Amino acid sequence: MTKPLQVLLISGSVRAASTNTAVLTTVQHIAPEGVRAVMYTGLARLPHFNPDDDRDPLHPEVAALRTHIKAADALLFSTPEYAGSLPGSFKNLLDWSIGGGEMNGQPVAWINAAGCGAPTGAVDAHATLLKVLSYTGSVVVEGACMRLPVERRMVGNQDTITDPAVRTQLMVVIEQLARHLRAASS
Ligand SMILES: Cc1cc2nc3c(=O)[nH]c(=O)nc-3n(C[C@H](O)[C@H](O)[C@H](O)COP(=O)(O)O)c2cc1C
Repeated sequence: MTKPLQVLLISGSVRAASTNTAVLTTVQHIAPEGVRAVMYTGLARLPHFNPDDDRDPLHPEVAALRTHIKAADALLFSTPEYAGSLPGSFKNLLDWSIGGGEMNGQPVAWINAAGCGAPTGAVDAHATLLKVLSYTGSVVVEGACMRLPVERRMVGNQDTITDPAVRTQLMVVIEQLARHLRAASS
């Protein structure tokens, strides 16, 4: 039996009722056969990035983050924008991801789920995300990146998106990412 492709889902929001986390939780639920989508849940527990601490023994949360990234075939991000940029906690995660080198050459994609509560449509956060990713050495899979507005009313009681059209588009994202990974490994 072929090993399933492992996709690590990373939400840039620590808010309990986050639409971005709901988007990724939905991806986890609808991932097709042969794809194992794993949610990273440690964002709020990461220490503040400090280059002095980027050495062994690493803080256990940093070590766990790097282990998750290393184990993944690809990463899928969904992040809000705060004050014209990435949320500080998410930028902190990205800062920690650089020193270990685990993302070097790793395929990544993003979903911009900003809805009508996001006045600038989170475009600056995504421009920053691309800039930061260029420092990690990761490879952006353009065909699996999507601008997909999600409203808070679309989040159901299982913290997943109920809107059928959005769910269909999320299926497209994960299938495109899987297609890229399979093509790259063949
Ligand atoms: C303090 C604050 C600043 C924000 N700044 C922006 C912004 O600059 N651009 C934008 O498009 N949305 C902005 N928003 C809206 C959030 O991105 C939006 O509420 C988003 O849904 C939050 O994501 P979440 O539901 O995953 O937590 C801001 C929200 C807050 C609370």
